[in-house]
Amino acid sequence: MSDLSRTVPQEQLPSEDLHPLPMPVINLGHLSLDSATRSRVVNDIAKACRGLGYFQVINHGISQSVMDCAVKAASDFFELPNEAKEEFSSEDLRQPVRYDTSSKDSISMSRAFLKHYAHPLSDWIQYWPQKPPIYREYMGKYAAEVRRLALQLMEAMLEGLGLGKEYLDEKFQEGSQLLSVNCYPKASQCDTTIGLAPHSDYGFLTILLTSCRGLEVVDRSSNIWKTVQQLPHALHVHIGDHMEVLSNGRMKTVVHRALLNPEEARISIASIHGFALHEKVTCAKELVDEENPPKYKESSFSDFLDHLTANMDNKHRNFLDSLRM
Ligand code: OGA
Ligand code: NI
Repeated sequence: MSDLSRTVPQEQLPSEDLHPLPMPVINLGHLSLDSATRSRVVNDIAKACRGLGYFQVINHGISQSVMDCAVKAASDFFELPNEAKEEFSSEDLRQPVRYDTSSKDSISMSRAFLKHYAHPLSDWIQYWPQKPPIYREYMGKYAAEVRRLALQLMEAMLEGLGLGKEYLDEKFQEGSQLLSVNCYPKASQCDTTIGLAPHSDYGFLTILLTSCRGLEVVDRSSNIWKTVQQLPHALHVHIGDHMEVLSNGRMKTVVHRALLNPEEARISIASIHGFALHEKVTCAKELVDEENPPKYKESSFSDFLDHLTANMDNKHRNFLDSLRM
């Protein structure tokens, strides 16, 4: 985050309608081609991560029907009567499944969400909603595929940082996956135009699937909000807090928010990937030297949940700021 975006409240940053082209679009099919092509794609990913902090992927191997089915499962869930959804309401952030609609978390301005863990799937799926009947099957299939994609992207990012794609492989394989399944009303149905207030995600990376336009990111070079275009069949990827820590600041977390869409209600599914609950993330020692001392304290996903719980009703939510040395 640049100094300006730290001092100017993010709500007050100007907004520009569309991200100017070229928005980085990475063809992931090229990752499995010859080594020269792979290196080029790894460089493109690393460049996007060090510059903007976000990009989109096409040819990512997840079929349109798997993505459509996940959106349908989410949308059918949110259409259930309130009693069926409220069964999953809880103030305890550590519940395996959690539904909420209010702004108790101080960032959900106008959003209903269902959050649940997804990896290892066989441990968590038993807690997921049984209604609608398709939910577990459709969301489970998407969750497994998006995780495979996250690991592939993580390898490329680690390679791009010069750490090698096997870096901490076991910890990534055993890592957590949190699905944040969001439902935003059509803009005209609300007083506000903001669905989800500015924040960054805690993990290494987030992969976002959305039914229509609404995501905005802070562009670091100009400090203005950019609407992220909705490219057909693409998935949006952005860097989270723990990637900034691991890379010792070479890659920066992305501040983003969701606006309500004026034309339609919107579903989004954010898949957030981190280490296992208690595994600490530190600045990679390979990226620390005299000129680049460690910039962040170590922390785990569990520390993040503690931070959120302690800051539930005030504005000191910024987890990354609490880690800066
Ligand atoms: C999130 C998130 C953005 C969106 O769930 O963390 O940032 O467009 N979602 O719904
Ligand atoms: Ni987010």
